[in-house]
Amino acid sequence: MFIRSLRVKNWRNFREASAQFREITYIIGANATGKSNFLDVFRFLRDVAKPQGGGLQKAILDRGGLAKLRCLHARRPPFVEIDIRILENLDGLPQGWQYELFFKSEGAGANRPVIAVERVTRIKGKEKELILQRPDKEDEADPERLTQTAIEQIQSNAKFRELTDFFSGITYLHLVPQLLKYGEFIGGRHLESDPFGQAFLARVASSKDKVRDSRLKRIQKALGDAIPQFAELRFARDESGHPHLEAKYTHYRPNAGWQREDQFSDGTLRLIALFWLLMEGDTMLLLEEPELSLDEAIVRQLPRLLEKVRRSSKRRQRQIIISTHSQAMLDNSGIDGRGVLRLERTNEGTVVHEPSEIDLEAMRAGLSPADVIMSKSHPKGAIQMELL
Ligand SMILES: Nc1ncnc2c1ncn2[C@@H]1O[C@H](COP(=O)(O)OP(=O)(O)OP(=O)(O)O)[C@@H](O)[C@H]1O
Ligand SMILES: [Mg+2]
Repeated sequence: MFIRSLRVKNWRNFREASAQFREITYIIGANATGKSNFLDVFRFLRDVAKPQGGGLQKAILDRGGLAKLRCLHARRPPFVEIDIRILENLDGLPQGWQYELFFKSEGAGANRPVIAVERVTRIKGKEKELILQRPDKEDEADPERLTQTAIEQIQSNAKFRELTDFFSGITYLHLVPQLLKYGEFIGGRHLESDPFGQAFLARVASSKDKVRDSRLKRIQKALGDAIPQFAELRFARDESGHPHLEAKYTHYRPNAGWQREDQFSDGTLRLIALFWLLMEGDTMLLLEEPELSLDEAIVRQLPRLLEKVRRSSKRRQRQIIISTHSQAMLDNSGIDGRGVLRLERTNEGTVVHEPSEIDLEAMRAGLSPADVIMSKSHPKGAIQMELL
């Protein structure tokens, strides 16, 4: 399943925005235009739908409450609206689901968020079948029910379990090299879905030997092309049983031995984790700024590498949405230009620009998204250097 389109109203810095998505979609925009906030819509749906510790109330609470979530540009305390379509294919006759969720503040003492509208529609080509429409009679009899969505309840979501499963499978990654390296030692709070890679080594350790070896071999091959003198990658445990990744480089003395992950460069480790996590699942993936710590020459190859992993048979259904600042990544005429969204701040909140017909034409003629779209996204006033 793929996210085909999203429309939001009053979501953080988006007063009203809509966008369509491709198999791989790039979200660009200057700092603080709302790229992370935009990705957060999908994380939010995941948090609502996830089977353990999920739910609407928790997802809103984790974001600081409704007052933080709803758009400050809106004039009255508004509904927050999310309207999303999930389809089996991005082209051709649409088959899949539409999910609409509007919520607002209860208004009474407790001021809890409550559902104003929840609707599930089955899309079959040109036909649409309404599967769920709330508030319904039961909600009227017991308004307490409106504090929970139907997708978070096993007894209510049987008819659209596919939709719930899709949402709860969404993975968000913003890999932080220091956490990849020292996650075990830093300890502290592990976020459940491990977005920063803190439990990365533990994940590598807990995979089956055969799977792990085959993944590390594939990563070794990919890194061999990207990192000079990188020769071998393997998994090992130290005397106290702690898991490690070890690499061998050809430029040291032949018996110089293996280096452990705390000696790897930040970029090397980030690439290893990124490839591993790409191979680990087949559900939808949100990637924050994958270019961080990476050399431009490698970043330039990322779209091709991502597409390659995505096309490997099991992951053909895997959709990837990427936030990026990288000119190099988009300086790639192989990218599907329809999947490049540009965010721009205005006085009325951020707007999402899809490529225009002229932009698409220019990209079809061989210009890259960096030439055509990114050039529009640089901030108008650069930071005033004299202040620094
Ligand atoms: N409820 C809200 N209403 C209006 N604006 C909001 C709201 N919540 C957050 N913002 C604004 O959203 C902006 C941050 O957006 P976000 O973190 O998504 O940016 P970004 O594009 O990911 O930036 P970066 O490139 O620096 O990561 C901030 O300027 C913040 O003030
Ligand atoms: Mg961000």
